Amino acid sequence: MADRIYNPNPELAKNAHCKSMEQYRSMHEKSIEYPEAFWGEIAKQFYWETPTSNDKFFSYNFDLNQGDIYIKWMEGATTNLSFNLLDKNVKCGNGDKIAFYWEGNDPDDYSKLTYKKLLQETCMFANVLKSKGVQKGDRVAIYMPMILELPVAMLACTRIGAVHSVVFGGYSSDSLAERMMDCKAKVLITADGVYRGEKLLLLKNICDDALAKVKAHGHEVESCVVVAHLRRLANPHGKTTAGDKKNGVNGTSNGGSSEPSVSWDDDRDCWWHEEMEEAEPSCYPVWVAAEDPLFILYTSGSTGKPKGVLHTTAGYLIYAATTFKYVFDYKPGDTYWCTADIGWITGHTYVVYGPLANCATSVIFEGTPFYPHNDRYWSVIDKYKVNQFYTAPTAIRSLMKFGDELVKKHDLSTLKVLGSVGEPINSEAWLWFYNHVGHGKCSIADTFWQTETGGHVITPLPGATPMKPGSATFPFFGVLPELLDEDGRVIEGEGEGYLVFRKPWPGMMRSLYGNHERFQTTYFDRFHGFYCTGDGAKRDADGYLWVTGRIDDMLNVSGHLMSTAEVESVLTEHQDVAESAVVSKPHPVKGQCLYCFVTPNEGRTFSKQLQDELKRKVREKIGPFAQPDVIQHAPGLPKTRSGKIMRRILRKIAIGDRNVGDVSTLADEGIVDVLFQLRPQA
Ligand code: WT7
Repeated sequence: MADRIYNPNPELAKNAHCKSMEQYRSMHEKSIEYPEAFWGEIAKQFYWETPTSNDKFFSYNFDLNQGDIYIKWMEGATTNLSFNLLDKNVKCGNGDKIAFYWEGNDPDDYSKLTYKKLLQETCMFANVLKSKGVQKGDRVAIYMPMILELPVAMLACTRIGAVHSVVFGGYSSDSLAERMMDCKAKVLITADGVYRGEKLLLLKNICDDALAKVKAHGHEVESCVVVAHLRRLANPHGKTTAGDKKNGVNGTSNGGSSEPSVSWDDDRDCWWHEEMEEAEPSCYPVWVAAEDPLFILYTSGSTGKPKGVLHTTAGYLIYAATTFKYVFDYKPGDTYWCTADIGWITGHTYVVYGPLANCATSVIFEGTPFYPHNDRYWSVIDKYKVNQFYTAPTAIRSLMKFGDELVKKHDLSTLKVLGSVGEPINSEAWLWFYNHVGHGKCSIADTFWQTETGGHVITPLPGATPMKPGSATFPFFGVLPELLDEDGRVIEGEGEGYLVFRKPWPGMMRSLYGNHERFQTTYFDRFHGFYCTGDGAKRDADGYLWVTGRIDDMLNVSGHLMSTAEVESVLTEHQDVAESAVVSKPHPVKGQCLYCFVTPNEGRTFSKQLQDELKRKVREKIGPFAQPDVIQHAPGLPKTRSGKIMRRILRKIAIGDRNVGDVSTLADEGIVDVLFQLRPQA
């Protein structure tokens, strides 16, 4: 029944922020025709120390023929993010409202944080940062687990106008070092370690390696602040916690009762809780300009070198706030839960900034869907009476495997809106989510967006949009998508092509940190006058958009974007490897997985040992989530006479499809048969 249309639940539509397609269309039209009026009205909900003027509200150039690309919203205005997210909510009488419920890896370990307390912790940590010499514009690297100190650290940066760069806690020390060097971080904030399920991750040790690597390259991170998270698990009644702890883990649960040993550099390292003891509880906000940088977040680039996506202040704030409100139809009193790690853009916009800008109450979850049992997600929804639940197709697919029995054990009747993000959601997963988790009464928001877009750009609105499983449907306010053909001609009506955007919306990226040139060539050179997403999409007869996936050399494993070049460069670093080519192969749970073709050096054999070493190297250099599923022996690669690897053919070999199409441009056609013969038997 995938081609059926699913209408929003009338109960939900009745009171929704956007109640119908008519209302959606008229708001969308206004947002495109009169962006100043549309976003100016929204901006009034926030505090501006200095106002902007109407003629400077919005300016941009999207066309390289007209000069450099720029995007500016609310020029002239000054504000402070933490002030709008915290002080303002406290002043409005919401100081005692819960900002975050924290649910630990272990179900017995949980706590919560009110707006008032969050403000206080933020101010205190902002003072700690100041004591470390951090000033407006300085970069602060953050490598932390999903604990309450993570949003506190981010908000403390915004308090003083420092620029945070959060690196996902699953990245390797090499990846962390590369990112800290690129942004020249002054301070690094981390934790001693974290349990994910039964696995212990010693984050501080990874940081030590990364800091040494950075130093060897001539840059020095001056301070490293460490949250004693494992210690607090081992010693639940100690005074080391952010938040109001209700219950500790008992000393014999997986945290163990012995404190882990952590290596230490007295000149550089300090404990978070010790610094906080002496910190002043108030900190006057630094007013920053609308277009001052807010954060850098690295995302994979097709050259292999990560791109430091730069987001700025005012536009990001109003866009995060507005998408959160409309896409999840958040109402005061609701409890919202986004399972994404804060280390990804989803966590930035929809765990931290969007919810707090709406004075929302949300859940931050440290653990995994499978610990202690495979029903953890459902039990957390039940425990906190979650109303909006936002997760990824890969998680849904991996939970579907356990059947609906585990879902039925829990009361999920509070759910109103379900969200999906990270990759196209297949209709089986959509329908399972809709029927078994949402009991056929919740809307599903299949939200298409990117690190670069800052917030949702194509998405249904739960009270308005009739849904089609697998379609992200229609553009959000301010967004004007087009489909282009190879020659850059606009495709009208039904069709398939490159997904691009014609105009900037407030939350889109402004540049790549330290490399505006790369920003322009990556996103604006292929089609002049448009922002190019790198994704393909089709439009059906009803005007619905279906994002089909990447059309560049990028792949998406469990919602983690990576480039083939990034993995290839790790493989070819191995002394026994002459050449490699990496392609994606469809995977039932991960969406895509890595399939690597490896040509050994002369005189070297392609052994099981080599395969294991290569897999380990990718884990170490990039992160565990990037581990290849298959490494195949390739005595040669299918190349054109000019030497270009034909990945199209490799993708066919990876799935065992003999229908490889035209091979006449290959320098050596024979290699295709050889590669088919060498396919490992599953
Ligand atoms: C790429 C962006 C945005 C937060 C998570 C990923 C793919 C994302 C969808 C969706 C189809 C999707 C695209 C996009 N993608 N959401 N709902 N339907 N594809 O952020 O790491 O910057 O990856 O994820 O390919 O370009 P990201």
